[in-house]
Amino acid sequence: MILNTELEYKGNQFPSNIISYKKDVDVLHFSTANNVKLRLTVLRDSVLRFRYTTVGKFTNDFSYAIDENASRGYNHLEISEDTEKYIVTTSKLICHIYKTDLRKSIYDVKDNSLICEDELGFHWEESYELGGDIVKMSKASQNGESFYGLGDKPEHINLKGKRFENWATDSYAFGKNTDPIYKAIPFYTGLHNGKSYGIFFDNTFRTYFDFCHERRNVTSFWAQGGEMNYYFFYGPKMQDVVTSYTDLTGTPELPPLWALGYHQCKWSYYPESKVKEITDKFRELKIPCDAIYLDIDYMEGFRCFTWSKEYFPDPKRMVKELADDGFKTVVIIDPGIKIDMEYDVFKEGLEKDYFCKRADGPYMKGKVWPGECYFPDFTRPEVREWWAGLFKELIEDIGVKGVWNDMNEPAVMDVPGKSFPPDVRHDYDGNPCSHQKAHNIYGMQMARATYHGLKRFNYPKRPFVITRSAYSGTQRYTSTWMGDNVASWEHLQIANIQAQRLAMSGFSFAGSDIGGFAEQPNGELYARWIQLGVFHPFCRTHSSGDHGEQEPWAFDREITNIVRKFIEIRYQLLPYLYTTFYHYSQDNIPMLKSLVLFDQEDVQTHYRMDEFICGNQILICPINEPNSKGRRMYIPRGEWYNYWTNELIEGGKETWVDADLDIMPIFIKSGAIIPKYPIQQYVGEIQMEQIDLDVYYKNGKEDSELYEDANDGYDYTKGRYSLLKFNLVGNEDKLIIRIHKRGQYITPYSNFKINLFGLPFEVKSIKVDNEDVSLEDVNFKDNSLIVTKEFTNLQIIG
Ligand code: GLC
Repeated sequence: MILNTELEYKGNQFPSNIISYKKDVDVLHFSTANNVKLRLTVLRDSVLRFRYTTVGKFTNDFSYAIDENASRGYNHLEISEDTEKYIVTTSKLICHIYKTDLRKSIYDVKDNSLICEDELGFHWEESYELGGDIVKMSKASQNGESFYGLGDKPEHINLKGKRFENWATDSYAFGKNTDPIYKAIPFYTGLHNGKSYGIFFDNTFRTYFDFCHERRNVTSFWAQGGEMNYYFFYGPKMQDVVTSYTDLTGTPELPPLWALGYHQCKWSYYPESKVKEITDKFRELKIPCDAIYLDIDYMEGFRCFTWSKEYFPDPKRMVKELADDGFKTVVIIDPGIKIDMEYDVFKEGLEKDYFCKRADGPYMKGKVWPGECYFPDFTRPEVREWWAGLFKELIEDIGVKGVWNDMNEPAVMDVPGKSFPPDVRHDYDGNPCSHQKAHNIYGMQMARATYHGLKRFNYPKRPFVITRSAYSGTQRYTSTWMGDNVASWEHLQIANIQAQRLAMSGFSFAGSDIGGFAEQPNGELYARWIQLGVFHPFCRTHSSGDHGEQEPWAFDREITNIVRKFIEIRYQLLPYLYTTFYHYSQDNIPMLKSLVLFDQEDVQTHYRMDEFICGNQILICPINEPNSKGRRMYIPRGEWYNYWTNELIEGGKETWVDADLDIMPIFIKSGAIIPKYPIQQYVGEIQMEQIDLDVYYKNGKEDSELYEDANDGYDYTKGRYSLLKFNLVGNEDKLIIRIHKRGQYITPYSNFKINLFGLPFEVKSIKVDNEDVSLEDVNFKDNSLIVTKEFTNLQIIG
């Protein structure tokens, strides 16, 4: 190969010519004269995996990221060759592999357009610092290409022109551009010429990504060890790329519905009387809330799995009393186990040899909240099993409903790098390695063990876990939050971007510390943040203890009322959010969609990041600045109803939207049917007689859905769920709604109250299941009517 760029300096090595090729069902093996091997696996017509080794043989194929239930199989696979290259063709793509240097180009099978092409392609360099190879991949970037993904980076939504590092890092009071940060999610999506593809670099070492930063037309990624091992996903729809990646790395099972309610947290609520004061206040002020959190001060000297006798003398009674009032108790559990021979958990961990060790034998000792600690090696199955077992008392006996895993990057105080030194050893499920390889998955394995503990002891109820650190695939076990943000307007914007970015990186169940963790918001900022936060899958206020109050009533009465109003909207929208979660869990569809994910063909969306779609049909745009009376925002193509005024707007343009402090711009897609529950103070408070269906007229067609089940437990997996598919068709003088039902769950309510918005005609008659009904029969008033939930066809005639 001819070396022609500066980067191809001495030290980098490249594959030479292919000398052998073999096909083994869905795996293609290529070897070069200089002993590089490429193993190309065809997972699906649109998903290819590329694995390289430079030492002639591959190590054990093991990954924490990949979901064992990921889809496999393709419709078509054909391999041919000419003098220059091998040609792999599936029903979606064509991949060329060049015989002289193993470089690859991938094309859309439909029109032969180029999707993604190696620049230098695979190359490597020996790492003098760490030993082993630095494995590298570079791609030619295409004209006008944009890049998205990478988990929680607090950066512009479009990553073009930026360079990143993935190394899970405790990042107190991080800011715009802080990198690396808490999570390591080495997945991105590229978009050019209307077509999208994705790359997941499944390498847990410290990885780097460069999106045309160093070199204008080149995107590259590399790792400080391990294998060049990546997956390529073809769309061309970005949503299909994200869905394929999410299918590969998995989704969570459905959470209990209460977990989609509002959560209140602070570092820390103690003693018990303070906790009660807070929960009582919620009920007194009628602000819905489902979960109350106990931060580290509930423990005895920060020893995990203990309770402070002074502050919480009878946790079982307290947790029960809270539960009787509709509050689920969530407690924090960190990975650091205090070195203390009087402390059971420590003693047992030591006796059983469960703690991480340095390369030369001593324990990995580090300072965290409790002082000097040892840390379980969560990469050992028996340690995860032990850890899961430790939850028996908390969950089964005391009745705690959720566990919050923090500091699991892992964070260590007062040391360079804020974490373990690189020599610490890990089992890595029977693939022993150093911390350089295990660092990024440490938090994930902790959350996984915690999840199994909850699942075991909370059974037959569903577990709820929240983690700070994560690697790809962590979403199978837990929800997440963005870590220690700051009470500033800039951070409100960051929270918005991070939630969108996580959703397009397979991790939808996420939310920020509403109001900001560090420092103190004023009432206006808090209100604006709540407005955004109620549209994030995970919705929790949290703040550090170093300042005043951050509860909905901590400001003035006006703010309390606004906060209540928005939390009430969330509770009304619970069936909508739950249906959205169902599609995430079941069909891998991100719960939040950046506008580019929603409509990639509209180039206006490629750099938009304030606006996003919650689910499929609700457009949100937070107010990011103080003293606003509204803002300019982009309305995506199509027709949208202003939620507050019901005014219909034609999208595809920027427009001013009024939004006084008690309003945030919200739009509903025309044709949508939005299910709403009555306001409850907590999930399950009310025996529902009827629920609302808000129907937004459209001259045309639109589909909507409503998923429901028992809100907890596993009966839904045995068919006891109810999925309604609504087809709406409207024209100048008629609106028809058809319902298709699936599942055997019988919803507790009997009727739907149907609220019609935007009807262009006056209603003259109504037919339910093709029978005329009188307007009185259905209580028709102000364009609302009541019908039995059993209807399958409703016609509103003008
Ligand atoms: C970390 C967490 C924060 C928590 C605090 C005390 O800073 O990110 O959420 O409140 O530790 O446990």
